[in-house]
Amino acid sequence: MENKINEIRTQAIAEIEASTDLKSLEEAKNKYLSRNSEFNNLKKGMKDLPNDKKPVIGSLLNKVSSELEKLVNEKFELFYIKELNERLLKEKIDVTLDGDYIPQGHVHPLTQTVNEIVEIFGHLGFSLIKPEFSPEVELEKYNFDLLNVPKEHPARDVQDTFYCENMPNVVLRSQTSNAQARQMMNSKPPIKIISPGRVYRNENVSARKNNLFHQIEGLYVDKNVTMGHLKGVLNEFIRLYFGSSRPTRFRSSFFPFTEPSVEIDVQCIMCQGKGCSVCSHTGWLEILGAGMVDPNVLRDVGIDPNVYSGFAFGTGVERLTMLKYAIDDIRLFFNDDVRFLKQF
Ligand code: DAH
Repeated sequence: MENKINEIRTQAIAEIEASTDLKSLEEAKNKYLSRNSEFNNLKKGMKDLPNDKKPVIGSLLNKVSSELEKLVNEKFELFYIKELNERLLKEKIDVTLDGDYIPQGHVHPLTQTVNEIVEIFGHLGFSLIKPEFSPEVELEKYNFDLLNVPKEHPARDVQDTFYCENMPNVVLRSQTSNAQARQMMNSKPPIKIISPGRVYRNENVSARKNNLFHQIEGLYVDKNVTMGHLKGVLNEFIRLYFGSSRPTRFRSSFFPFTEPSVEIDVQCIMCQGKGCSVCSHTGWLEILGAGMVDPNVLRDVGIDPNVYSGFAFGTGVERLTMLKYAIDDIRLFFNDDVRFLKQF
């Protein structure tokens, strides 16, 4: 028995000493110190030994097993620290190195303007129209007929409006005013909406005109809506968008769907009213068309003009953005040149 124990001891020590890393050490440990090891089986066999042998063998077994455990623990500590150091070295991060450059996109200047205007009118109680009331591909009925635009009006001319091939009554909307008719046909007053979106016109593209651009339409219909409300709301909008010191002017004008109609100018932001090429030497820049909704329009969409009245307005998003940031070419908005876009 003693010989057997010593034999196992020598073998175990040799194997533990021969281990080179945590993995091989663990293997040696399992082989000699686990429950199923030969060594442990000897311990279990103790009960069958004659009584006089028990103390000697017992103490030998205990001595050897604590010797082996001590050896394993020493080796373990050694390998553990070695492997930990290796890992730390491998995973070292140089925090002083430059980070990767990740290009970041941002909101297009036109979208920024739309968002700003939607927010301003939100404060004034206007909500955003449902998209289904503001389609870009539209029937002539909503783009023109229901807005009191007579059949022979020059705006209908194919020169201005894109007609769909083989569908003579379908157009790419030339104005966001189409949303007015759809909104009024589908809801009852009070109505207080704004409708931003794309519009299309068959223009020669230049620094001032593109055949795709954006408008924002507004509509307020209720009992007792007056020109005073129109003036108050639109002046407040201009004050919030351009700043309080920008003088405004209301000029009488004509639109088929409003009566009376006005155009609203702000003092030229380039020359502060002195007159320059941007304002054609008038000192003023037109930014809004507006007016009291024509009773014919109300009647045609089923709203009684003797009970209700309203005002409407339309403004160009490109123009408002160009004026605010002194941008001199509308095409810049559509060319996707990041050198331009990243300035906003
Ligand atoms: N739709 C007009 C345009 O494109 C702008 C406009 C003028 C809209 C008067 C309105 C309005 O709602 O009342 O020039």
